[in-house]
Amino acid sequence: MPKKIRPSQQSSDFEIAKSLSPRRKTSRANNIDELAQEQLAHFSIDPDTAMGQSLASLAQSLYQANIDLHHMWTASVQALQQLDRKDRIAYFNAKKFLCFQLAKLLDSLQNPFRKTYQSLIPEQSSRIAKGPYPIFDNVTAIFSATPVITRTATYLYACTEWIDDAFQGKEPLLEVYSRLLNPTSISLANHIVDLECGHLSAEYTAWNFNSGMAAIDGILSHLLGYEDIIICSRNVYGGTFQLLHDWFAKPSNLNVAVEWFDGYDVDSFKHVYDRVKKQYTSRISTGRKIYVYLESPCNPHGYVLDVAAICDYAHRNNSLVIADTTVATPFLYRPMLREQLAERPDFVIHSYTKDITGTGVTTAGVVIGRNETMFIPKNESVTAMNSFGKNATFQWRDTLFWNVYYVKGAFLDSEKAFEVINGSRTLELRMMRKVINTVVLARFFDSHPDINVNCNALENNHNAAMRKQYMHMELPAPLFTIDMEKVKFDRSTFTRFFDCLEPTFSHMVSLGQSNTMVLCPALTSHSEMSEEKLNEAGIHLTTIRISVGDEDVRSLIAHFIRTTELVFDPLIPSFTAKFMGAKQIDDLYEEIYLDVHRRWIRSSPGVISLQAR
Ligand SMILES: Cc1ncc(COP(=O)(O)O)c(C=O)c1O
Repeated sequence: MPKKIRPSQQSSDFEIAKSLSPRRKTSRANNIDELAQEQLAHFSIDPDTAMGQSLASLAQSLYQANIDLHHMWTASVQALQQLDRKDRIAYFNAKKFLCFQLAKLLDSLQNPFRKTYQSLIPEQSSRIAKGPYPIFDNVTAIFSATPVITRTATYLYACTEWIDDAFQGKEPLLEVYSRLLNPTSISLANHIVDLECGHLSAEYTAWNFNSGMAAIDGILSHLLGYEDIIICSRNVYGGTFQLLHDWFAKPSNLNVAVEWFDGYDVDSFKHVYDRVKKQYTSRISTGRKIYVYLESPCNPHGYVLDVAAICDYAHRNNSLVIADTTVATPFLYRPMLREQLAERPDFVIHSYTKDITGTGVTTAGVVIGRNETMFIPKNESVTAMNSFGKNATFQWRDTLFWNVYYVKGAFLDSEKAFEVINGSRTLELRMMRKVINTVVLARFFDSHPDINVNCNALENNHNAAMRKQYMHMELPAPLFTIDMEKVKFDRSTFTRFFDCLEPTFSHMVSLGQSNTMVLCPALTSHSEMSEEKLNEAGIHLTTIRISVGDEDVRSLIAHFIRTTELVFDPLIPSFTAKFMGAKQIDDLYEEIYLDVHRRWIRSSPGVISLQAR
């Protein structure tokens, strides 16, 4: 399970010991000694033999160790907040060493265990068919310096009663089957919650999917029912538009009513929400619900929505909110950190395929939500405050895990999870470089009177205030568009120009990689939209979406200038001369580079504050 299950305050010491028994559900033992004897009987070991005596003694020590470990766990959870950093360093290292001691026990067990195994499977053909026994040689992998790629469909389980618990979601040690859970994917899920939710991470859970679209489909399938209503921000990824429009809205599927809202502020949203509420009174009266789907920063202009105010309004009206914050990554924007629950989206989505992994080596995605909406052990319920400000009972069957994850199949395998973890280690470095490049490129394009720049990095852009309000260090997302509608190039001139942007600007349809990529949304990512809808979304034939990479931005600019000279100047001789000059570009780069780094240093804690944490 992705969450570290909290130590149970109610369990008695004996109950804690019993959870380690192969007869944890049916035991008749009353103390540790009896538990050990019962364990021997369960495996038909004669207690009067030397083997029986040493096994009983070891089992007793382990039952006692489990009690001690739970006491230590409870004490740590209670004390951690108050502990000085020095004590936390000491606690951490003492526990790390305990891990090695526990593993050493397992490792020492391997020799006698392997000998017994070899004596039981002497036949060559059985040995070949079975391969190495799972536990042997895996113990030291715990100490692999990167998460282990668990390339397996299934897992060895301990005994009947433990696997029964695992099927109920009550035994986190047993993963059961890799379509549902595997340790590499769980490692990533725990990590993304830490990155996204910071000090609130104990309240949140993540489920990984095989792609960003699978994550979006997963959460929409979880929430949307027949004839529900969804209000969606206009500028969303084309795949999201298609999924809503072509699948969820289709009358022979769920006949969901999809309504769009333009603009980025809460007033634009309220206006549409109130209209939709009136328009669908009859559906709502039969119990159908309104959901809200946001993408911020959005595709393709990188504009930021007033997510907190929109969430607050939606929640006051009992609507749940999903927010796709892929383009920002948790480096630029963490919507779950708002103090008020009502101002946080209920679910955050990332396509890991983009900047979190950063190199485009894999497709993957995630949904992050509050624990009680993501996973509750089978047949259990949890009472907690919901985002509508009311105390509510959350049932296990209504969590994303049981309702969708457990019964469908698009979940992340270990190789891909590993790629995401590996790539994410350089997220901050890459994003720093990208935001610098974004500001420089936007200002460079803006120096040309015939180029429209849709980028909130520009101080006079209508979305600049929202960027300052929401984005870390007031920095822009590395995604924006330009268009040349002022010049009215014909289609052939424009496409000749666009086709000459390679190899400096990659012709690729994704975003969020280390290389800068360009596409024409009207002809690719948003081609499913009608001309009317494209215009409403501010997308024209000459709109170029730029997903900014980590290159030296001056090389991008030099190539762009040479390409306008090549294609446009023969038609409009002064076109290229209208860009800012080379010296100005170099100075701009230096200014922005230093400014962003200065902001970073000032936004991060200094040594005195770090020592105190
Ligand atoms: C903002 C956004 N969300 C979701 C997706 C879908 O992610 P994936 O391609 O991993 O399925 C994309 C893909 O481009 C995207 O740009």
